[in-house]
Amino acid sequence: MKMSKIIIGNQKMYMDKEDVLSFVSDMKSYDKGSVPVILCPTFVYLDYYKDVCKVGAQNVALNDNGSYTGEVSASQLSSLGINYCIVGHSERRNFQKETDEEINIKIKKLLERNIVPILCVGEKKEERDNNLTEIIIKKELEQDLKDITRDNIDKIIIAYEPIWAIGTGLTPTNSEIDETITFIKNYLKTIYRDVNVTLLYGGSVSEKNVDELNSINSVDGYLIGGASTKFASLSYIIDSQK
Ligand code: PGA
Repeated sequence: MKMSKIIIGNQKMYMDKEDVLSFVSDMKSYDKGSVPVILCPTFVYLDYYKDVCKVGAQNVALNDNGSYTGEVSASQLSSLGINYCIVGHSERRNFQKETDEEINIKIKKLLERNIVPILCVGEKKEERDNNLTEIIIKKELEQDLKDITRDNIDKIIIAYEPIWAIGTGLTPTNSEIDETITFIKNYLKTIYRDVNVTLLYGGSVSEKNVDELNSINSVDGYLIGGASTKFASLSYIIDSQK
């Protein structure tokens, strides 16, 4: 039997309420079978997704509940029954200038509340062109996972997302993806014994390339941006796992 990959949708700041209602209604009448699907809408829509799949947030505050206008804490997410949260996405690293030190704090805040962090790492185009991919990813992992214990490491999902592949329609070749995913798995094995972290690929995954990507055995799932906001695209990707 084919092993189904985990499908995680990062819906970013797409979709107004009407779009969400129509998307959720399509999801309600769709049978995703036993394929694990986690969707991460913006905070304001989290509740709409509860009945159709597992739900994740796209960000979490650095601090516990308190005077932090505009922020949402791990405790608040947990009180809403949210079990997953993206951290360290390249858009936040870039636009919000989020640092590896902050990402590390956020991962710890999430783990304290039993929320699975979905940590994103990946290189820029010029870093890949200069053969720096593994160096960059190792540096991110070292800092983002600082002081994360053996007990907790398996609770984290890691997404390899080459920054140049996000939203561009470009993807690395299957063997390049396999190489980097295997590098991450091996790196984690040198730090933690018998580790079994779930590794995703993200960056321009769509209904157009998923059948080809599905043949990469080292990839446990996908983190999907744009295509996760369109029901037809997402359901095609989910169906390809059945
Ligand atoms: P994309 O985004 O699928 O639209 O390239 C992926 C992501 O940013 O997680």
